[in-house]
Amino acid sequence: MSNGYLTGPEKDGLYKAIFSRRDVRSHFITKEIPNDVLLRILNAAHHAPSVGFSQPWNFILIKDPKTRLQVRESFLKEREKSIQMLEQNKPRQEKYVSLKLEGIMESAVNICVTYDHTRFGPFVLGRTSIEETGVYSVCCAIQNLWLAARAEGVGVGWVSILSNQELGNILEIPPHVKIIAYLCLGYVDEFAQKPDLERAGWLSRMNLDEVVCFEKWGLNESEDWSGLAEAVARLRTEDNIYAGGP
Ligand SMILES: Cc1cc2nc3c(=O)[nH]c(=O)nc-3n(C[C@H](O)[C@H](O)[C@H](O)COP(=O)(O)O)c2cc1C
Repeated sequence: MSNGYLTGPEKDGLYKAIFSRRDVRSHFITKEIPNDVLLRILNAAHHAPSVGFSQPWNFILIKDPKTRLQVRESFLKEREKSIQMLEQNKPRQEKYVSLKLEGIMESAVNICVTYDHTRFGPFVLGRTSIEETGVYSVCCAIQNLWLAARAEGVGVGWVSILSNQELGNILEIPPHVKIIAYLCLGYVDEFAQKPDLERAGWLSRMNLDEVVCFEKWGLNESEDWSGLAEAVARLRTEDNIYAGGP
């Protein structure tokens, strides 16, 4: 449209991608991701907002099974540490052990996303007071990637149970570059309706009114906001505003 607004179906498509995006660890199928699809996904990530337009991200694409095995070794070690942390809470520990928390080997491609704070620096417009805005920018790119992948029918799983030190060595990342994410991408046999952690009974989605407040921290009522405050309070987690199917 000439005024830049999305049409109704375009808007529906965006909300559908948002509500049906999932973190995928266990539904990968054996199918290559064609280069044109990967290109669109990466280009979507590269069009994220970034502080001072610094574009501080890099994407390392990994297929080599030898590299992936090394990364999975790191996952297994870090997972073991998590299991030990739950030693005092046996039911939680058992549940943790039962969860599938990565798809490093089964996915088609792994992508390590990094942050380079030296890019276009040292003066990066907008990053002068809040250093973390650089990392926030990379997270925006990751979310773009995640949603674009969903639109392409490609699942993404974020694996953070890893040692960044080991990952840096495996991938030969220079010391000034920070690792932000390790992602596993691949086609899937289904996108689950709910997060795996919710289905497994680990945690549930909070209601919107538990996280929204008006004018000051903790205020969930306000005359000036009455219409919205009531709508927020009525909205249950299962009510997606998007009305379409998966
Ligand atoms: C920063 C970050 C790190 C994550 N690390 C892991 C991980 O190591 N293993 C895993 O299974 N899921 C990981 N996840 C996925 C979350 O568990 C998932 O997003 C959450 O349970 C909600 O599910 P959904 O993404 O399907 O809506 C991570 C997500 C984020 C944003």
